[in-house]
Amino acid sequence: MRTQVVIIGSGPAGLLLGQLLTNAGIDNVILERVSQDYVLGRIRAGVLEEGMAGLLDEAGAGERMRREGLPHDGFDLTFSGKHHRIDLHGLTGKHVIVYGQTEVTRNLMDRRAATGGISIYEAADVQPNDFDGERPYVTYSKDGVEHRLDCDFIAGCDGYHGPSRKAVEGKGLETFERVYPFGWLGIVADVPPVSHELIYSNHRRGFALCSMRSATRSRYYVQCGLDDRVEAWSDDRFWDEIRSRLPAETAEAMTTGPSIEKSIAPLRSFVAEPLRFGRLFLVGDAGHIVPPTGAKGLNLAASDVRYLFDALQEYYAEQSAAGIDGYSARALARVWKAERFSWWMTNTLHRFPDTGTFGQRIQEAELEYLTGSRAASTSLAENYVGLPY
Ligand code: FAD
Ligand code: PHB
Repeated sequence: MRTQVVIIGSGPAGLLLGQLLTNAGIDNVILERVSQDYVLGRIRAGVLEEGMAGLLDEAGAGERMRREGLPHDGFDLTFSGKHHRIDLHGLTGKHVIVYGQTEVTRNLMDRRAATGGISIYEAADVQPNDFDGERPYVTYSKDGVEHRLDCDFIAGCDGYHGPSRKAVEGKGLETFERVYPFGWLGIVADVPPVSHELIYSNHRRGFALCSMRSATRSRYYVQCGLDDRVEAWSDDRFWDEIRSRLPAETAEAMTTGPSIEKSIAPLRSFVAEPLRFGRLFLVGDAGHIVPPTGAKGLNLAASDVRYLFDALQEYYAEQSAAGIDGYSARALARVWKAERFSWWMTNTLHRFPDTGTFGQRIQEAELEYLTGSRAASTSLAENYVGLPY
């Protein structure tokens, strides 16, 4: 079989790129290791920047997000027992949309099915080959039968653990990494959110975040230890812990109930350079990871897709390789700014092993400054709503 672009991975990056290519008349096939239901079962990010929302519209998959997504004009920072609102819209003229990654993925899958795009799920042993030359191909097996897919380009949208980045190890790949000494324990519960806006809390017991998926579904997180186990966290323990990290009136207003999902994610900052190796591109989590504190992971996958789609379109429409040659530098420039912001939000809001009483006072002073200074609040807000593409 032959196609123009093989996309490895049916996460948001792969699906979004695939749909933009399909709409532009560029042939593509998505190869995914797990089943469609498995992909849809993952509960991850929840905050979309305007740039990402616009790309979903452009892909023809934005309609339900515009109807059901929750536009947020601000969020709260809590520390020292008080709330401080960051007026995103007042400071930047922009907002974010709270809408689950699961829904984004579902809408893109539905759109792909409606427009006849080919996705091969449960494809095993997916391997990119010969991308250094003019004729790359991808091999995989399905139901025990081996296949070969010839193509012009390979888009590695296969996440942090996928085969694309592994295939470029030893080929000039350089990596940059910071692993944090804690994780996030997250739950989903069908209870109304404690506030109509997100709350990011700095507390001496550790960070907490109150987010949501709808008016009746809450998404809450607490900072936890790296060796913590989900089984050790009963719902009661979770609710007690998150309430202890919030101002008293917020804790009292919180509706609790049974969790419908509970998991622990470690926090990591990671960047691979470059993001292009001949005819293979690294896109989204395959090329970089941010800790979730700044809500940037999914949005960075979208900006990579924007740059790569523009480059591929230019290649096919104008026979120009300029966009392709510039992809890595263009994407990395935005990636590093989001890495910096996510690292800084993580440092400012979490408790580290060496934070101590001095570190806690420094964090509170920084947060006082941030919330009291229009210049500092604007800097936070413009990063949070998303830097320009
Ligand atoms: P992915 O969503 O990881 O998609 C990659 C796809 O490639 C997957 O479907 C995978 O199955 C597939 N794949 C992997 N290996 C192979 C293979 N061998 N062959 C074929 N296919 C393969 N971001 C936030 O902003 N907020 C959050 O709260 C948040 N929570 C997160 C929680 C977890 C546990 C994780 C892992 C990430 C979280 N993120 C969060 C980050 C955000 O979800 C990612 O940045 C986003 O999913 C990136 O999309 P992607 O398409 O690049 O990668
Ligand atoms: C979420 O709703 O899952 C969420 C929101 C904001 C973040 C991280 C996760 O910073």
